[in-house]
Amino acid sequence: MNPVLSDQVLRPAATGPKGWLMQKALAAAPTAFAMLRRVRPILRVGSTYIVTRYDDVTEVFQNDAAFGVPYKAKLDVLTGGEPFFLGMADGPAYRTALGAMSRVFKREDLAVLGTKAEMSARAIVQSSGGRIDVVADLVRPVTFSVLSEYLGVPEPAEGRLDVWATRLFEFQFASSPKDLALQAEVDAIAPAVRAHIDAEIARRKSSGTPADDVLGRCLALQAEAARGFSDVEIRTGILCMIVGGPPQPPMVVPQAMEQLLRRPAALKAAIKAAETNDDATLALILREAMRFDPLAPGLPRVVLKDTVLAQGTRRQTSIPRGATVIAAFASAMKDAGRIPAPSEFNAGRRPHEYILFGNGLHQCFGRYINGAILHMMLKPLLRQPDLRREDGPEGNLTKTGIFAARLVVRFG
Ligand code: HEM
Repeated sequence: MNPVLSDQVLRPAATGPKGWLMQKALAAAPTAFAMLRRVRPILRVGSTYIVTRYDDVTEVFQNDAAFGVPYKAKLDVLTGGEPFFLGMADGPAYRTALGAMSRVFKREDLAVLGTKAEMSARAIVQSSGGRIDVVADLVRPVTFSVLSEYLGVPEPAEGRLDVWATRLFEFQFASSPKDLALQAEVDAIAPAVRAHIDAEIARRKSSGTPADDVLGRCLALQAEAARGFSDVEIRTGILCMIVGGPPQPPMVVPQAMEQLLRRPAALKAAIKAAETNDDATLALILREAMRFDPLAPGLPRVVLKDTVLAQGTRRQTSIPRGATVIAAFASAMKDAGRIPAPSEFNAGRRPHEYILFGNGLHQCFGRYINGAILHMMLKPLLRQPDLRREDGPEGNLTKTGIFAARLVVRFG
């Protein structure tokens, strides 16, 4: 089957020993991290260094001159060799590219996006008949409809944006070079996404009707500035936002819902905030729920020069150029040395206790959007009477590889 036409958002789970091992490793990560933080906070495995304490994880993120992002090679596959700032080191090119994108994502959009997420979620919840899969029926469709409209990318005539973006996301952030099947899918999907955005740019230019979405704003800047965006820069920026953004709420929001369902007091507080339209409190509760099962165990960095990490401490470690570092931010957010009572659910924590969206130079560009929309997607569900897990295994969150796959709840 042509991968461009696939309607399967998540690839089938890896079966056999490989799949089993991956699920076990992910499930065991919190316990393993707790042990490492105590006995071997910086663990070397071959040429990879796993960094588990809060101070060291933030040191890695803050020192981007020594710990660089490893994303460029795969980003080049997605963009056709065009640069995007996630793949760059700090410098004028990074700053210019980031600054250009910052001009077309506006703070005034955030409240509108929050309202749209809530309205879209409410329509889905109301027509669900009292039974809903939080991943595939709620968070994924809400995210893709709200963010693709905001970015200005329509659904393609053939193929699906959620399938395309999720497949490219998996390739970019969680694939092994040995996964030739995924590589083959990406070789077909990436050019299709580029062609789709190019066609939309051409359509907008020929229609001449301006649109106030991210793509429309890029085109407006191009028209008014002598040195505005080129078409290829616009396409690359929009493509990377589609791949880097919408695949993630359907991971972390259902994971947060699972954490709430495990904690009746926290769920009750979330329901109360939803019922009383206390969106600020609901956002804090969701943020705390995400701390217990964030996006991933850690983020990779490549070591650009010989560096001593945690210098002057007993765990000080020399890390050679060329090594890989995994900055385990999931572990950092549980580090009792810096996070008070880390295993307690406490929605009143201070902002620096969270590293949900990265830290330092490459901290998530969409973090303000996340703050505006993630809790609003759950709000209509939380307002339903007698919200509970579905009976049986469907009522517990399952994952396929790195992705949340299914969590069915009932109400009424
Ligand atoms: C639940 C939702 C999201 C999560 C958990 C998330 C997480 C992250 C993380 C952890 C990073 C840092 C990567 C690193 O340092 O290696 C990052 C970067 C980034 N994110 Fe997000 N993200 C989310 C949503 C979004 C959205 C909605 C957008 C855009 C619309 C977006 C665009 C980006 C971009 C462009 C970067 C690169 C920033 C840079 O290189 O300076 N993200 N994100």
